[in-house]
Amino acid sequence: MKFFLDTANLEQIKEANDIGIIDGVTTNPSLMAKEGISGHNNVLKHYVKICEMVEGDISAEVIATDFEGIVREGEELASLAPNIVVKVPMIRDGVKAINHFSNNGIRTNCTLVFSAGQALLAAKAGATYLSPFIGRIDDTGWNGLGLIEQIVEIYANYGIMTEILAASIRNPLHIVKCAELGADVVTCPLKAMMGLLNHPLTDKGLAQFLADAEGTRG
Ligand code: G3P
Repeated sequence: MKFFLDTANLEQIKEANDIGIIDGVTTNPSLMAKEGISGHNNVLKHYVKICEMVEGDISAEVIATDFEGIVREGEELASLAPNIVVKVPMIRDGVKAINHFSNNGIRTNCTLVFSAGQALLAAKAGATYLSPFIGRIDDTGWNGLGLIEQIVEIYANYGIMTEILAASIRNPLHIVKCAELGADVVTCPLKAMMGLLNHPLTDKGLAQFLADAEGTRG
């Protein structure tokens, strides 16, 4: 399973990249705004910086919601670097644009996916990645991981190549469960990713090893 970092924060991207645990980065307009990136040219420059830092796929999201606008923005984003993946919302014109991009060699990430039906449509259009938002489904009292399970089964039934990129990950357990279910990718905040490190027995065991090693020093 690939690990993508879900942020536009350059320090966090550098930290995760230095450890060597990320295969890519996903961003969205809210994450860009959180970093105070505003203005079209600044947004483009920020994407270029991320693409220079990380070798893997970098999802950059369009703002337009009409077909022509999505295509125009998507082509501009895709021209920034070879590892850009154009992130397109699951709406009628978005699906049409994903189909257009797929026919023209531009890779896509279909975002804001909340149902198996939407997952089928995105795959039909030729999406490279599909982003079901599991945390936001959990927030409504429904079962986000249940949707991942359903999509994994449906895609396996037909040998669909669209990669399931579980998004809106809130904690380390979400990551482990996605791995159990067979998601192709998880995208998560650094805190959830680093949470995988933690186990009290590791801390206890290390403290004991260090104490014992102290006793063996001559
Ligand atoms: O990038 C999309 C997704 O991961 C958003 O997560 O936490 O805003 O629901 P969240």
